[in-house]
Amino acid sequence: MRIMSIQNVQPGMVLGKTVFGSSSKLQLLNAGTALTEEYIARLNELDVTSLYIVDENIGEVDIEDVVCDQTRLEAGKLAKDIMEKTRLGSSFDPCRVKNIINSIIDDLLSNKELLVKLVDIRTMSDYSYFHSVNVAILSGITGIGLGYSSSRLQELMIGALFHDLGKTLICDQMSCMHFLPEDETPAELKKHPELGFEVLRQNKSVSILSAHIALQHHEMYDGEGYPRKMTGSDIHEYARIVAIANIYDLLTTDRPEHPRMPSHQAVEYLLLHAGTFFDPDMIAAFVEGVALYPEGTIIKLNTGQTGVIIKSYRDFPTRPRVRILADRNGIRLPIPEVLELYNRPEYFISEVLDEIDK
Ligand SMILES: [Fe+2]
Repeated sequence: MRIMSIQNVQPGMVLGKTVFGSSSKLQLLNAGTALTEEYIARLNELDVTSLYIVDENIGEVDIEDVVCDQTRLEAGKLAKDIMEKTRLGSSFDPCRVKNIINSIIDDLLSNKELLVKLVDIRTMSDYSYFHSVNVAILSGITGIGLGYSSSRLQELMIGALFHDLGKTLICDQMSCMHFLPEDETPAELKKHPELGFEVLRQNKSVSILSAHIALQHHEMYDGEGYPRKMTGSDIHEYARIVAIANIYDLLTTDRPEHPRMPSHQAVEYLLLHAGTFFDPDMIAAFVEGVALYPEGTIIKLNTGQTGVIIKSYRDFPTRPRVRILADRNGIRLPIPEVLELYNRPEYFISEVLDEIDK
């Protein structure tokens, strides 16, 4: 299985991973579905730009998600329900939130190697619900890496799930999903941290620290954020984590104004802003939990050979296991060769490709 741009998807190809969104059930197409022209046209209409495809050309590549589809779907439904209730001015039942967050924590803790290797494929119309779920998952993985107790994980992840709750009181979700630099963010939109904080603070079952995540997730480490221009450790650690998870998820999923950025480039962006936008210690903890070169990525090596990542390692982020598919001249190998880059220092990844034959 590998991720493929929808322009290159052909009828008959089999979907490797469930596509979320666009209906009341929030589940569009299940993994294992054979794609037809109608399905592809519908996905195009819904602005889905990439899909995971079972690709026999690259051999078997099994990619496990850190959280199962069902849990992700339930969390997306709950996020949608709560955002809609908040928009209408009604409160929500925190027990349902705690239950779903605990299910996510159980999934994460049962994972042997806690490494994010997938992006979830979502339609633009349901983007913000699945974005919220993913920010909670990414924050949870960082919290586990930092040795958080389960009660701290719960506080962190509930706040992460609702970091943008205040936006529901300002704008519809389509106009809220843009990632804008601080100086380009409209003043009205900059009110969402305080609005979200107020909603969460009034719900007595939500920890005040979770509410502070909504308030502080746009503060920047160097004091250039909003609403209060807080700096360094004055910003709660939870909010410093969620700020990173929020930007990473925005960068690595397709949005109207920006195509998906590959994981290694998004990590590069985060590292570049360690100490300015982001807390360097939290960046270090965060990047340990995301695969730079996720399984299924097509790459070119310094030797000119092309191949597919078949195993990424948490301890050796730049040295995954690669199945070599073609030589330096682009000629397919009759029998693919497998290279463990961690014990072959003479090889390194020079490029990430969308297709094998490029
Ligand atoms: Fe926000």
